[in-house]
Amino acid sequence: MNLILLGPPGAGKGTQAKRLEERHGIAQISTGDMLRAEVKSGSEIGRQAKAIMEQGGLVPDAIITAMLANRVSQPDCARGFILDGFPRTTPQAEALDVMLKEKGLQLDQVIELKVDDAALVERIAGRFTCAQCGAGYHDSFKPTTRPGICDACGSTEFVRRADDKAETVAARLEAYHRQTAPLLPYYDAQGKLRQVDGMASMDEVARQIEAVLGR
Ligand code: AP5
Repeated sequence: MNLILLGPPGAGKGTQAKRLEERHGIAQISTGDMLRAEVKSGSEIGRQAKAIMEQGGLVPDAIITAMLANRVSQPDCARGFILDGFPRTTPQAEALDVMLKEKGLQLDQVIELKVDDAALVERIAGRFTCAQCGAGYHDSFKPTTRPGICDACGSTEFVRRADDKAETVAARLEAYHRQTAPLLPYYDAQGKLRQVDGMASMDEVARQIEAVLGR
């Protein structure tokens, strides 16, 4: 099963992609996570991406599509994958179509998480992750069970993303509406687009996604 989760920053793509990965044993591919790993490692790609990401813009298509082509060839993608944050532009979507055709693969569904812009800012501003194991939390919607202690690994160190500042979030939202939202009619025309209510609780969103997948 090969899926795309589409939606604005903070819509819950990462949250739901992790659940799908656990439930169906298919790989989550987050281009944002891959880029943050490149930035952390100080690679050439990371060097080029860092300033763009901190300003809320999109990293050039050529860098992203090369990275993605390499990633979908990894053994953990053999059973399928969930694309989280890719494609984000029409050229990326077209490159994906070519890539899948060359590999003899098909895209099963494109699931749009629909969330109001006003809710996104609150979701992003409250997000934090464990510095040790990467488990994700939110100040209001998903706090740690014991204050300041990671539920998953017990670490007491947490980090917030450099691009989660209010001014950067505004630029990321603008990039979504201008460059990524045109992909909705692109996939609708292919008969692949399905929508779920991303404003619902995390469990309810997961339930709606499973219903879309027919399970
Ligand atoms: P990326 O990492 O992909 O970020 P994004 O798309 O902006 O999405 P987020 O990770 O912010 O949000 P999400 O939808 O995953 O929400 P989450 O589940 O965390 O990209 C970062 C940057 O990298 C881009 O700006 C760009 O520069 C670059 N980049 C990446 N891919 C690229 C590409 N293909 N081309 C070019 N550039 C690229 O949820 C958010 C919070 O809300 C969490 O705290 C969560 O707990 C909470 N939450 C989730 N669901 C719910 C719910 N239903 N109710 C209440 N709270 C919820």
